[in-house]
Amino acid sequence: MSSFTPTDHTLMAQALRLAERGLFTTQPNPRVGCVIAHGDTVVGEGFHPRAGEPHAEVFALRAAGERARGATAYVTLEPCAHHGRTPPCADALVAAGVARVVVAAEDPFPQVAGRGIGKLRDAGIAVELGLIREAARELNVGFFSRIERGRPWVRVKLAMSLDGRTALANGASKWITGEAARADVQRWRARSSAILAGSGTVLADDPRLTARIGAPFAPPLRVVLDRSLRTPAGSHVLDGSAPTLLLHAEGAVVPAHLQNVDLAPVPAADGGLDLSAALALLAARGCNEVHVEAGPTLCGALLAAGLADELLLYVAPMLLGDSARPLLHLPTLQDMGARWNLRVQDQRMLGQDLRLRLRPARD
Ligand SMILES: NC(=O)c1ccc[n+]([C@@H]2O[C@H](COP(=O)([O-])OP(=O)(O)OC[C@H]3O[C@@H](n4cnc5c(N)ncnc54)[C@H](OP(=O)(O)O)[C@@H]3O)[C@@H](O)[C@H]2O)c1
Repeated sequence: MSSFTPTDHTLMAQALRLAERGLFTTQPNPRVGCVIAHGDTVVGEGFHPRAGEPHAEVFALRAAGERARGATAYVTLEPCAHHGRTPPCADALVAAGVARVVVAAEDPFPQVAGRGIGKLRDAGIAVELGLIREAARELNVGFFSRIERGRPWVRVKLAMSLDGRTALANGASKWITGEAARADVQRWRARSSAILAGSGTVLADDPRLTARIGAPFAPPLRVVLDRSLRTPAGSHVLDGSAPTLLLHAEGAVVPAHLQNVDLAPVPAADGGLDLSAALALLAARGCNEVHVEAGPTLCGALLAAGLADELLLYVAPMLLGDSARPLLHLPTLQDMGARWNLRVQDQRMLGQDLRLRLRPARD
C-alpha cells in the first residue's frame, strides 16, 4: 500500500508540470521540477532551466527561504550528490532543514545513483521514493536511455497517406500532412538533442533539419549518416544555422568543402554505417532524444535493428496509389510470427491528420 497522501500526489504533479517548463532547454541535462510545502501550503517552487544554471531544488529553496525548515520537498528526480557545474542539491536540502523529501525517480547518473538519497537519509531526513515515477521517467525518456542503455531514445517521425505512402513515384511529397501536423513536428524536433537523416534525404530534399517554434530551445545537433561524405557543398545542413555532424565510414575521403565540418568516423556494417555505434557516439556527445527524419532506408534499418524506440506517425486522409513510395524498407518476412508488432502509446487528431505514437510491443 502506498503511503503517499492525495496532497503528495497533487504536489508531485505540480513539480512535474514545473519540470516540463525545461522541455526545450535543459539538454543534455534532465528536466526537473521541485515544490517545497508545509502540508498543502506551497512555500517554494522551481525548475531546472538549462545546463550550467542552478537545479530545480536551488530555485525552490531560494523562494522558500526560512520557510523550508521542517517542510516537505517534492523533487521529480533524485537530488544530486556531486559537485558538477553547481554544488550538490542534497547538501542544500540538508542545510535548509527540510524534514522530508519525496522523490519521483532515482537518478541513474553514476555520480548520483542513490548517493543523493543516502546523503539525505544520513542527515535524518525522511526520504520516500517512486511517487509518479513512470511519468517522471517518461518526461526524461532520453536522459534515462542515455545513462542506462548508453544510447539515446530514438524517435522516428514518418508522414504517410492512408495507403501508407510517403511520396509520389517522382519524389513529390510537399505536403502530405497539414499545417497543424507540421507545427507539431517542429515541437518534437525542438525537444530533441539531435535530428538525424540519411544521406539519401539530404541529397533528395536538401532539408534544413532545424526546429522552428515560438519559444527558446537548445538547437538540436543535425546529424547525417553519410558513409562516403556525399553531402554536397551549399547544402542547408552546412549553412551554419545550427551545429552539424556528419558520420562517415572509416577511410572516407574528405572533400574540400567538408574540411571544416564536424566529422566523425563510424565502423561499417551491412548496408551502411553501424547504427548501434552511431547511436553510442551520439550518447557520448550527450544526446538524449534523437529525432529521425529520414527516408525509408534509414527508418527501416533502425526499426529492423530494434533501434527505433518510438514511431511518430502522421496519417493524412488521402490516397497516393501503389506506385507511390513506401513508408519503410524492411526485410521480406516468411511468416507472420516475425512481423513487427507495435503498441499505440497515444493518438491525436491534428487538423485532418491523425498522429499515432507507437512503440515496439515487447511481448
Ligand atoms: N515522408 C517523410 O517523412 C520523409 C522524411 C525524410 C525523407 N523522405 C524521403 O525519403 C527519400 C530518401 O530516401 P532514402 O531512403 O534514400 O533516405 P535516407 O533513409 O534518409 O538515407 C539513406 C542513406 O543513409 C545512409 N546510411 C548510412 N548508414 C546507413 C544504415 N546503417 N542504414 C541505412 N542507411 C544508412 C546510406 O547512404 P550512404 O551510403 O551515402 O551512407 C543510405 O543510402 C527522399 O525522397 C525523401 O523525400 C521522406
